[in-house]
Parts: sequence; structure tokens; C-alpha cells
Amino acid sequence: MTPIIAFRGVGKRFAGVTALSDVTFDLMTGECHAICGENGAGKSTLMKILSGVITKYDGEISVRGRPVAFRGTRDAEVAGIAIIHQELNLVEQLPAAANIFLGREKRTPFGLLDDAAMEREAATLLTDLECPVDPRTPAGVLRVGDQQLLEIAKALSLKSDVLIMDEPTSALTETEVARLDRVIAQLRQRGVTILYISHKMDEVFRLADRITVLRDGRYVKTVDRVATTPREITGWMVGREIANHDFHGARSRGEKVLGVRDLTLPWPEHPRGYRLKNVSLDLHAGEIVGIAGLMGAGRTELLETIFGATEPTWTGTILLDGRPVRFIHPKEACDAGIAMVTEDRKRLGLFPDLDVAANVSLCGLRAALRGGLLSRGREEALVASPIRETAVKSAGPHAAITGLSGGNQQKCIIGRWLLVKPRILLLDDPTRGIDVGAKAELYQLIDRLCREGLAVVVTSSELSELLTLADRILVLAEGRLTAEFSRAEATEQSIMEAATGGQAPR
Ligand SMILES: Nc1ncnc2c1ncn2[C@@H]1O[C@H](COP(=O)(O)OP(=O)(O)OP(=O)(O)O)[C@@H](O)[C@H]1O
Ligand SMILES: [Mg+2]
Repeated sequence: MTPIIAFRGVGKRFAGVTALSDVTFDLMTGECHAICGENGAGKSTLMKILSGVITKYDGEISVRGRPVAFRGTRDAEVAGIAIIHQELNLVEQLPAAANIFLGREKRTPFGLLDDAAMEREAATLLTDLECPVDPRTPAGVLRVGDQQLLEIAKALSLKSDVLIMDEPTSALTETEVARLDRVIAQLRQRGVTILYISHKMDEVFRLADRITVLRDGRYVKTVDRVATTPREITGWMVGREIANHDFHGARSRGEKVLGVRDLTLPWPEHPRGYRLKNVSLDLHAGEIVGIAGLMGAGRTELLETIFGATEPTWTGTILLDGRPVRFIHPKEACDAGIAMVTEDRKRLGLFPDLDVAANVSLCGLRAALRGGLLSRGREEALVASPIRETAVKSAGPHAAITGLSGGNQQKCIIGRWLLVKPRILLLDDPTRGIDVGAKAELYQLIDRLCREGLAVVVTSSELSELLTLADRILVLAEGRLTAEFSRAEATEQSIMEAATGGQAPR
């Protein structure tokens, strides 16, 4: 049988970095093929080559037995290959429908844009994805999870027979992941070949027929899923055993640093009328509080409100060291010792024009400027430790941030906040896109900082992460707290029940 895609000796160098070298393997028609590898292993680069985003590379790619040389993504699309990128690629001002048909707009017989037709088709596609978004909504106001579904709708509209998904679930919650599983099953019935990149082993083992492992830009091996284990795969990925992140030693709880009382955040445009309703929580020094909930439950809004990043229309009380505060800008929260790692690094976190060092030093600058100008050397010295602690892999402190792999960009954002030495750290899905090894290291880092007195509120799209990190887990459902568990009490089952509308114990 001719493979649908054949990679032969594929290599790619960027200035100073070998992203891929001599990668050779095949994809068979109709299979779901997972690509695994650490952050920076070259997964996205290989997918960008296959989808025509990167056009200069070594080696050869064949599609259905014929060598191809795509001059751009349009060529790849014509050959039936579509990609859903890791970093979302939407035009924020344009409506959902216009994003789906970008560059292939439907026109009336008079050559005008046929908005009605695009909206109709978009509505059908989105309905198939069980996505409740109105096709006229501007993409920029959608939450990350819905934006990701929009990208999937776009790929589906191309009727591709090879679909590349680069970490499609990194911003999805459990229910949405289940929804995507159904979509993938649908596609496979139609014979679509799927290339699936994910750092989540449970996903890989649920979906893939075969798994290919890359390490440091090199091909390691391809195995049948039934013939391997997650442990074996991660072993090949990192080339060493991963530290077991099991924090047996209890952390001691210090003073109460943050108190939230009856926090209500109105949402006049929504029938429910609020994004958050009567939410109360306490946070102590040295403690990690996890916030669980489905997409739209209000997790991000809760953190953003504390951080002064929402409209200051909320009611209730936020107490910092017992004193009421009302931040109207994140800067005020920063000055008060609060830091936040946001879920959407492209929109809120990274400055694409600045290099790695500048992106990391951004908020620590004032400390560095005390007593003089910021020289390049001082900046480098300043960022050295956060870059080391978060294990950022890059060509150096002055590499372009846009040249880093997705997971390494996320590490830079975490490093930036470590630099300001906050007392309270708000983490909104912080390990999104970070590989298993780096995750374990980050957990250890967070645990260590908490032992030194840091207080953390963390949300995650992976329940296992909350169960690993948090001392207590609060569950939000539709803006209300529906349950609280100690780490000992919490199970994935009990949290999911509370998140999907279980009845409030309080
Ligand atoms: N445009 C670019 N300019 C310079 N270097 C780049 C560029 N794109 C990728 N690289 C480098 O190539 C290597 C592979 O990156 P790639 O994005 O393919 O990794 P990845 O396996 O997708 O990682 P992740 O899991 O973090 O998404 C990295 O070292 C990265 O810094
Ligand atoms: Mg990637």
C-alpha cells in the first residue's frame, strides 16, 4: 500500500538552530498518527513543512506516492492537507464565519461577498462541532476554546483528507475534549488521515493507531499504540526517566493573604446576568488552591477580577492582608505583589517584537532599573535564573520570542512572573502546551516557591494537574461555587460531578 504521506530525510535549520534533521517515516491512509516529543523537538516545524507554511527545507515529502513542493498553504490545501495550528491564527476583528472562509470567500453572482451563504455554512459546521457560537460574532471576543473550534471548522470546510492537529485540546476542557473525540471519530469514518500532536498521553493512547517520537529534531521511532505504553513513549521523548512529581511532604499553611467574599461579576448581555455569583474563597501563604470547572464556568474571570483585569463592575469584597482592595488595572495588582499567568499567551502574554530576554524581564524591569540604566548585560543577568528555573530552550537570551516552540514561549511567561517575586501567583492553565518532563519540573518549582511562602491559585484544563498540585480544590459551575474538596477527598469523578451541575454543599 502506498503511504498517503512519506517524509524522506526531512530537515530544517533556522538561524543557529537545527529544528529537524533527517526525518524519515510514513503515514498510512486513514490512520490516526500521533507525534510525540518534548517542547522544541520539532513537531510543529515538521507539520508546518507538510502544510506548506514552511517552504524551504531539506529532504523530500511525497503525497500519495508523488513528490511535492508546496509554495504555500494554498498548494497544500489543494493537495488535501489542512492544519489547525498550535497558536491560533484568527483575525480577531472578523466574524466567526468570515474567519472560516478567509481567502476563499463565497461570492454572489455579482461578485459581492455572500455573507448570508457563509453564515449558513458556518452555522452548519459549528453545529456539527456542537459549538454554540453565532457565526456573526467577532472571533476576538470568543474564549480560546471556542476559537480553537473555529479553526477546526475552518479545516473541516476545506474537506481535507489529511488533517493536522497541533495540540488541538490544549485549551479545551474535558467535555470539549470529549466533543472533539466525537468529531475525530466522524472524520475517521470518512477516511480522513489524522496527524495528532499532543503532550497529553491519555489522549495519544485513546486516539492514535501509531505513534512517532521525535527528540531534538531527530526521528526516534514509530510504534503501534497497542505495542507500547505511555511510560515507554515519554522515555523515548526525553531519553531519561522523568522525576515523579508526588509531593508527599505537606506544605505548612501560613497567614491568610487573600480573602474573597461574595464576589459577583455582572454580565448584562447574558440571560444568566452574571459571570460570577457570590464566590468566596480564602488563600493562605504556602497554599495552592485549585479552581476546577468547565469552559465558561468563570475560572478565568475569577482570576482576572482578583488581578484587576476585568471591568471593575464587580460587587463583593476582595481583601489583601485583611484590607479591602479594588484594582482597576493589572499594574496595581502587580504593585501589590500579585502576578498572573494567563491562558492565552498570544493575546495577553507575549510581545512578538521583543526578544526572549525582554519578554522575560518585562515586569522585573523596575527592580533592575533601580540605580541606573538597564544594560544588555544586566538584563541578561536578570533573566538568567528564571530562564534556567523554567528550563526555557532557545538559541539564547536574544533569540526572537516568535522563534521559540509553543511550550517554550509559555515557560518564558512563567519565568517573567517568577522574576517579580510575587506573594500571590494566579495561574490560569499554566502548563498548557508544556511537555511532560518540563511539567514535572514546573510542579516542583511551584511547590518549592510555596514552601518559601508563595500563595497560588491555579486553574487547569487537566484535572490530574489540580489533583497533583492543589491542597484544596474549589469547583465552579456556571459562575457559582458548587463544591470544595481537600486534596485527600478529591477525585476526578467527584470534581466532574460538581463541575457539571452537581448540587452545592454550601
Ligand atoms: N521561526 C523560527 N525561527 C527560529 N527558530 C525556530 C523557528 N521555529 C522553530 N524554531 C526552533 O525549532 C525548534 C523546534 O521547534 P518546534 O516549534 O517545531 O517545536 P515543537 O516540537 O512543536 O515544540 P512544542 O511542544 O513546544 O510546541 C525549536 O528549537 C525552536 O526554537
Ligand atoms: Mg509545537
